[in-house]
Amino acid sequence: MYDKNIYIKRREQLKKKVKSGLLLVLGNVDSPMNYTDNIYPFRQDSSFLYYFGIEHPGFAAIIDIDENKEMIFGDDLSVDDIVWTGPQKTTAQLAKSVGINNTAPTSKLDTIIKAAISSDRRIHFLPQYRAENKITLSQLLGISPQIVNSYSSHSLITAVISQRSIKSKEEVDDIEKAVNVSYNMYTLAMRVAKPGMYEREVAGLVEGIVLAAGGRLSFPTILSIHGETLHNHYHTNKMKSDDIFVMDSGAEVSNSYASDITRTIPVSGKFTSMQKDIYQIVLNTQTSSIKAIKPGVSYKKIHLKAAKTITQGLKDLGLMKGNVNDAVANGAHAMFFPHGLGHMMGLDVHDMENLGETLVGYEKNAKRSSQFGLAYLRLARELKPGFVLTVEPGIYFIPQLIDKWQNEKINSRFINFKKVNEYRKFGGIRIEDNILVTRNSHKVLGKPIPKTIKEVEEHCNM
Ligand code: GLY
Ligand code: MN
Repeated sequence: MYDKNIYIKRREQLKKKVKSGLLLVLGNVDSPMNYTDNIYPFRQDSSFLYYFGIEHPGFAAIIDIDENKEMIFGDDLSVDDIVWTGPQKTTAQLAKSVGINNTAPTSKLDTIIKAAISSDRRIHFLPQYRAENKITLSQLLGISPQIVNSYSSHSLITAVISQRSIKSKEEVDDIEKAVNVSYNMYTLAMRVAKPGMYEREVAGLVEGIVLAAGGRLSFPTILSIHGETLHNHYHTNKMKSDDIFVMDSGAEVSNSYASDITRTIPVSGKFTSMQKDIYQIVLNTQTSSIKAIKPGVSYKKIHLKAAKTITQGLKDLGLMKGNVNDAVANGAHAMFFPHGLGHMMGLDVHDMENLGETLVGYEKNAKRSSQFGLAYLRLARELKPGFVLTVEPGIYFIPQLIDKWQNEKINSRFINFKKVNEYRKFGGIRIEDNILVTRNSHKVLGKPIPKTIKEVEEHCNM
């Protein structure tokens, strides 16, 4: 938790932005895994954390802008509860630590919301992604859970996005702490991975680093010799000598701020020359994209430039052909690079996506492309100082996608399918770092994680 003045200031800014009404912010509750008392590890809602800092389950808050009143709702533990859980700060103590003096038991929330409804007051709330909170809102507001999100407040959503998008120094420090844990995860993976090991053995060891650092994963680890599957959470393959594996993982170790790093690692400690060729294209794309980051530049422009670097590289290897600009305009690169260059990061690894991916990543009124590949670009807007984002280009050989495009002659003027088929078993390569947009330029966050072919091979052989 930060100093209470940080939370007080954030709430003051929020009130100024939304101007009037009652803001209702729900924290998360514990979620059972298979029976009530066996719960998933608790993760607080990120907007609740941002304004109220309390990392415990079962809290809610109200900011009454018109009355200039703030209130935290939560139930104190009984002695019977304490027998199982141990002592915990009271609601009043927790609220005080974030600068709020008014508290009430959770049951009081219903009375206050019902009173606000009967006086026709505007109640602002954020869209919910957890069923439990949809039900809570449904009960409080009398709207069915299925449609409760359609009544969420656009002005609250945009106010929260505008605040949370700009990271303060303490937030950036927390992201750097997470990246530094990622450094330990990646250098360990490079050192331990050996032919004959199972992916899950490496995944287990790197997850242990996060737990030992007192944190948790910021998302389920992607670690696979089938790196062509973008979100591959399946870790049961045995790794062979000429395999490379994509590891895309992250940690949250301080105030729930995330890291999100990807490296592609040769199992034997040495890349083959075919792997080196593709790796170098991805690396050039990643480093040139990072170099282009500064305030005022649109991330869509950097994404499209990355697509061109990839296309040129693949053309040099004989995998693509034709005019590079035309190929990218037609989305031909997307057979190899089907996702966006990156996304916002912060309290959420894909920051604020629950509030609306397009609202977070696109300018007001900007039209999102429907072209395969470009449609997945989560961040397209003009960059501002204080944004933290990922840069994560990749090249993948997805047999099912290759077959579809070849059979349907999609972009056949730009793709040399005969050559591409020689790479059917290649897998994929992705490289990802976390970048802060600074006042005039950018900063790669955290301790540099081995990235060049030479650095990765050296670490693999340590
Ligand atoms: N780290 C996974 C992703 O960015 O989608
Ligand atoms: Mn990412």
